[in-house]
Amino acid sequence: MKHIFQEGLDKDAKVLVLLHGTGGTERDLLPLAERIAPRSSVLSIRGNVLENGMPRFFRRLAEGIFDEEDLLFRTKELNDFLDKAAVDYGFDRQNLVAIGYSNGANIAGSLLFHHPHALKGAILHHPMVPRRGVALPDMTGLPCFIGAGKNDPICSPEETEELSTLLKQAGASVTVHWESYGHQLTQPEVEAAAQWYQQAF
Ligand code: MLT
Repeated sequence: MKHIFQEGLDKDAKVLVLLHGTGGTERDLLPLAERIAPRSSVLSIRGNVLENGMPRFFRRLAEGIFDEEDLLFRTKELNDFLDKAAVDYGFDRQNLVAIGYSNGANIAGSLLFHHPHALKGAILHHPMVPRRGVALPDMTGLPCFIGAGKNDPICSPEETEELSTLLKQAGASVTVHWESYGHQLTQPEVEAAAQWYQQAF
């Protein structure tokens, strides 16, 4: 997968895996990593799917309706890529924290749902429920930050609560941070995520 790897000064710190939103690239979230954990190594990945020229991490049938088969295929593809990148760049595969926005948050959520131990934690900005009606792996104690907008037309507050409940039922330690904006990622939300990260790791 197309990506950027930046080795951090602190080799023991969590490795941040950055996952952009629809139409983004692997460059978009680099400032977030710099704000949240400036000494961490960073692996920022571009989604392999194109929708009208816009990179994404998996196909959708319509806004908010995911192509489940492709979601599962792409989630495994990403998980396999993380395995390979850990070997290629020499970082600890068991030490990854994802930071995802929108479509990137959704594939990060899908990693949590389908691949136990893929991530040590996650910051999910404006995520949806990636899949319904499946048993989730044990996520006991896994730190998870969800950033949400009370007026987000794509990820409704109800869906945010649903995702939070599912993750909590699987044992994750979930913090939901609300802003009163829409789907956009705002500076106060990034600040809240940065403060949460200091406590969590
Ligand atoms: C998705 O397709 O993952 C969500 O609708 C968010 C987005 O618009 O990318």
